[in-house]
Amino acid sequence: MTSKELRQKYLDFFKEHGHAIISSASLIPDNDPTVLFTTAGMHPLVPYIMGQKHPVGRKLADAQKSIRTSDIDEVGDATHHTFFEMLGNWSLGDYFKEEAIKMSWEFLTSPDWLNLDKNRLAVSIFKGDEDAPFDKEAYDIWLSLGIPEKKIARLPKKNNWWGPAGLTGPCGPDTEMFYWVGDPEKTPNSFNDDNPLWVEIWNDVFMQYNKKADGAYEPLEQKNVDTGMGLERILAVMNDFDDNYKTDLFKNLIFRIEDLSGKKYGVDAETTKAMRVIVDHLKAAVFIMADDKGVTPSNTDRGYVLRRLIRRAIRYGRQLGITEESWTKEIAKIVAHDYQEIYPELKKNINLVINLLKEEEAKFKKTLEQGLKEFEKLSNEKIITGKQAFDLYQTYGFPLEITEELALEKKQAVDKPEFENELKKHQDLSRTASAGMFKGGLADASEATVKYHTAAHLLLAALRKVLGGHVIQKGSNITAERLRFDFAHKEKMTDEEKQKVENLVNQAIKENLPVTCEEMTLDQAREKGAHGIFDAKYGEKVSVYLIGREKLYFSKEICGGPHVENTGILGKFKIKKEESSSSGVRRIKAVLE
Ligand code: ALA
Repeated sequence: MTSKELRQKYLDFFKEHGHAIISSASLIPDNDPTVLFTTAGMHPLVPYIMGQKHPVGRKLADAQKSIRTSDIDEVGDATHHTFFEMLGNWSLGDYFKEEAIKMSWEFLTSPDWLNLDKNRLAVSIFKGDEDAPFDKEAYDIWLSLGIPEKKIARLPKKNNWWGPAGLTGPCGPDTEMFYWVGDPEKTPNSFNDDNPLWVEIWNDVFMQYNKKADGAYEPLEQKNVDTGMGLERILAVMNDFDDNYKTDLFKNLIFRIEDLSGKKYGVDAETTKAMRVIVDHLKAAVFIMADDKGVTPSNTDRGYVLRRLIRRAIRYGRQLGITEESWTKEIAKIVAHDYQEIYPELKKNINLVINLLKEEEAKFKKTLEQGLKEFEKLSNEKIITGKQAFDLYQTYGFPLEITEELALEKKQAVDKPEFENELKKHQDLSRTASAGMFKGGLADASEATVKYHTAAHLLLAALRKVLGGHVIQKGSNITAERLRFDFAHKEKMTDEEKQKVENLVNQAIKENLPVTCEEMTLDQAREKGAHGIFDAKYGEKVSVYLIGREKLYFSKEICGGPHVENTGILGKFKIKKEESSSSGVRRIKAVLE
């Protein structure tokens, strides 16, 4: 079965079961300060899980592009990936445990769908603790479907609880489905989650709590279902592969690395791992850069994650002996070719991606040689101090991991906490992930972030009025303390322009304009002159937030919300800084006082 067939089968199944199929959202979360990237299909749906009405209905399904960097050390094995596609179905206050589990079972085992051997399936459920009780309901449903008691493991929160995506937000107990990938003749008659031959293939999460900033679990008014099935894994299962990299989602990439390096995949463990890391990281990097809200390599936030991915791939390439100039773009071309039908942004933005890769590779090459020389000078040290690691990072562009990996090869230790300290000392605190991205969250609906979210709409509208219609949003990042906003514009803004923008926003605040939301099709939104990321599919309904009064709207944007009801409560808007973000993109930092 090909990835294309499998992805489609999943969506067809849920369509037949009354779900609306929605498009993958961007990899860059919309105004959500709790995570750097979209980590799962549920992530873009958080406002709807929290109770906001979704424009297309209460039953949804999709294949969502996702990035997880928390498992980066596990990348290199057969089943972990930085970039993956998550197949998911949702109930937003519609069906709950019984229907969700029965649909999962039907899709996996029915001869009309995946037709997996029931005997090779096992499940786990939440065993209960002080925050939430044993999930007896899920347990009874699995029993009723014929799963033997010994194949229903009761596990703690560590295993059978999902969310929140950031520190706060929707979460709940889950039930996970596992498939025996070992010899079918030897399928055990009980389930043991320590045995790696039982591979987790699907997770049904019952989102019934909201985790608050103080750690409390508050029941959600609306009970939701959120499921996630990694396409790469289920594809391997369907093809009886013990390695996701043998599927069509990776095969061509591996072939190309074999060509470039003259080495063979699957012969020795070191080569196999290096090839996996390279294709995993470069695929993730390509998707991040090609995203419609794309990111470019830099030393902060997402740009830094991206830079680490690219540079780590290049380093493993060196290890494999790849000598070709500017080779990473060869991999990018294949990623774009293999995925462009499903993700058209890859085709649209491939030239940009190629140029960014060429640039980054050249930069890294220049500094790497120097950095390696510097690193050699430390070869007699037992411990690389934080200061030394930081100098390598600062002066030679060595991501910490590369220092750590080189150190590991030489049996040296790296003082990581001291490195982090140095990093903090040297960086504008508001720009680091630790300061801005993980403090609080949209989900505690920290009033402040909601205000900043509305302020961002006013800012975009004001920028377009002052600088012109070419200004479109390129990204935004909101914390409870400030707003950061990236937009397309070539020149540095003059003081006068900044003043005008500030005045316009403050005028809109003073007028206490109402904020309303209307649902419409994408075409209607376009006709209405709404701005925003047009990543929804043709015909799909979207929410448009309108600020102002009928016919005299100050701002019209496609957006998931949430927003304040009237602009009057925003306070005083102030631009703190205006600077370049990347080529052709300016960045404003602003606060509400
Ligand atoms: N959100 C759940 C997961 O990512 C489905 O596993």
